[in-house]
Parts: sequence; structure tokens; C-alpha cells
Amino acid sequence: RTVAFAASGGLDSCTITRWLTDQGVTVVAITADLAQPDEPDFAAIEARMRASGAKEFIRVPLHDAIAQAGLEGVQAQARYEGPYWNTTAIGRHVIVAGMIPVMRELGVSILSHGATGRGNDQVRFQLVTNMLAPDFQVYAPWRDPEFLGRFRGRREMIDYCNSHNLPIKATVEAPYSTDANLLGLTHEAGKLESLEVAPSFVEPKMGVTPQCAPDTPQVVTLRFEAGRPVMINGQSVSGFEALRLANQLGGAHGVGIAAHLVENRFVGIKSRGVYEAPGMELLGTAYRYLLELILDRRARAHFDNLSGFIAQQVYQGYGFDLASRMARKAVEEVTKLATGTIAVSLYKGQVRFESARDVPHSLYSEDNASMEAVGEFDHADSEGFLRVLSVGARALGAAGQVPP
Ligand code: ARG
Ligand code: SIN
Repeated sequence: RTVAFAASGGLDSCTITRWLTDQGVTVVAITADLAQPDEPDFAAIEARMRASGAKEFIRVPLHDAIAQAGLEGVQAQARYEGPYWNTTAIGRHVIVAGMIPVMRELGVSILSHGATGRGNDQVRFQLVTNMLAPDFQVYAPWRDPEFLGRFRGRREMIDYCNSHNLPIKATVEAPYSTDANLLGLTHEAGKLESLEVAPSFVEPKMGVTPQCAPDTPQVVTLRFEAGRPVMINGQSVSGFEALRLANQLGGAHGVGIAAHLVENRFVGIKSRGVYEAPGMELLGTAYRYLLELILDRRARAHFDNLSGFIAQQVYQGYGFDLASRMARKAVEEVTKLATGTIAVSLYKGQVRFESARDVPHSLYSEDNASMEAVGEFDHADSEGFLRVLSVGARALGAAGQVPP
């Protein structure tokens, strides 16, 4: 039997690859190149995976795929339970979608991964594979009683790798686990598990914490065309470059760095995470300011529902299903209109609105919004409007429905 293992090259990857190889399973290690900000050394990963027994090593380049998926997240404003830009969840969709064609070419139909049996990632690996390749199997060692009987924790995995002379990086136990891609870093587990411990020991890798950010704000000008960031500070950018530049600019000012969340996992438990997504936060916030000018109140209420729905779908591993595609189609109607230039200032983790220009679909009218007697809106016309509203408001009071 042959499995394709989604390998990061870390402790789990080495342990699982060696353990499977020892059972006579042929392992093809597949590593997604998601432009991880920690810049993994793919040659070193290959060396570790081969030393652990992998028969083949394949690096799948997915820079444009992860950038495109991230920008769709910005366009949908799809944050999960508040601050989380779903960076890991988006990454899992992109990894599986990138692995499947490679696996088809190799004639391998068992996808294996190192996600645990208590998390969201196992669900995403499984459901995305099931949907995109219904003929494939998914094998998760962390849910296999034989594997669990052999390894109860990371300590045993480290001992196992050392006793087999596997060149693992982690010689001491890492204080928490980090997942990385172009869109951001997610830190969980280990020392983060106790809520009695402040998360300040987490060292941000994509920038500085807001407290450590510079004392002077920096203005950043972003040009969007039909929802795509095309220019930052006057410099033309591709989607990928926009995210990379926004990561740098945002990270330097603590934007989207060390966001804290106790969230509801799909499997029904709560977990605590610390998140870094400076580029998503910078692009996403500027994009939100642009949408504020464009969406009327009904479109906005509907859009907000779609945002929450899409975020939940992606979080739960349903990002490619029919409901998600329907919701994305609806978002596209908004995306088409999202053209304009927004200037924001970055200051100690905040992205503040500075100015907007060249927004052809803006509903904002300076004349009508003005307190001065200009524009088409006559103050006196509101007299009748308010008299009508008063009828209902008085009825509420007179009927004793509003306690004095
Ligand atoms: N809780 C986040 C999510 O479900 C992050 C998961 C992070 N995984 C990790 N190995 N650090 O998307
Ligand atoms: C894991 O459990 O493997 C990582 C965290 C998650 O999937 O939620």
C-alpha cells in the first residue's frame, strides 16, 4: 500500500513516516509550498522526510492558489468568531486541492495527514478530500488505535525519532504548535492550553506586538479594482505581492498580530489560539472601509450574513460545497463594485480610515450628508416622515410596552 502524506517536515511528519514505513507502507511525502512566512527550507524538509523513510518527496508550489484563496476571504470579509481570518482553514483547502492532482498522477489514492483527533484540521483534510475526490481514502494515524497505543505524546515521538536516528529539528518540546502559510500563523496547544497563563510568551513572527510598534503612524494607500488590490503606495502589485507587502507593512505596526481567541471548534470543544495575519487584517480593514461607501443598508445586512456564513463554512471544511459556491456568487455581485482608493494609517495595531477617492459606485453624497442646506434632501421634508414614525412610537408608550 502507498499513502501520500501531507508533510510539514516537523516531528509528526518524521514520526508518522517512519512508523508507516516500518509497517510496510510506502510513503510519498508531499509538502505544500504556501509561501510560509517562516520560509521553510524545502531541501532540508526533503532530507528529513527521506531519512525518515519516504520513498518520494514532492514540493507542490501553491503561491498563487493560497493568495487567491486569501483574497477571496478579504472580499467576503470572512472572519470566524471575530478576529480569526481562517488562515489555517483556508490553507487546508488549498493543500488538499493541490495534492489531489499530484496524487492522481502518481496513482496514489490514500491521503494521510498528521492532524489530531480532537481538532478542526482532521475534518478539513477529510471533507475536502471526500468532496474533491470521492474515490480517495483518508488515513489519519492520530485516530488509529495502533498509533495511539504506541505514541501518547510528543515526548515519545521525540524519543522514537532519536532512537531511530531521524534528523528531527525539535530536540526540546516546543512551547506551542504553529501552523503557517502566506496568509498568517496560528499558534495553539502546549503552554497556550492553560487560560490562567497570559499569552504574552508567544513570540510573533510576522511583525511586532502593538505595544512594541513605532510611536509614529504610517499612512498606506491601497487601490482596489473590482475587489482586487492592484496598487499599494503607488506600486503595482499582483494578488500575491499585495499580501506579502501588506504582511510587511501591517506587521511592522502590530496590525493583526497576536489576536487572541477562545473559539468553538467544529468538533464541539473550545480551544484557545493566538493568531497573526497582518496582511489579511490590513487589506481586509481597508476593504471594509471601501464597502462602507458602497453598500446600502439592505445589501450590507445581507452581506454581513454571507460573511459569517462563508467563514463558518470554510472553518468547518465545507469551503467548496454547493452552499459555499452559492454564497460566493452572491459576494461576487459586491466584489464587482469594489473599486476605489483608500488611505489608512497604521498605528499600534490599528488600521484607521484616512481618506477615500475614486470610488465610482459610492453612495456617499457630501451634499446630502451635509448639515448645510445643500443637495436634494430638504430638512423640512423630514417633518412628515417623523410625524408618521411618531404614530407607532407613541402607540408603544401608550400601550405600556416601554417602562418609564
Ligand atoms: N484553531 C485554528 C483553526 O482551527 C488554528 C488551528 C491551528 N493548527 C495548528 N496546528 N497550529 O483553524
Ligand atoms: C490539530 O488538532 O491537529 C490542530 C488543531 C486543529 O485541528 O484544530
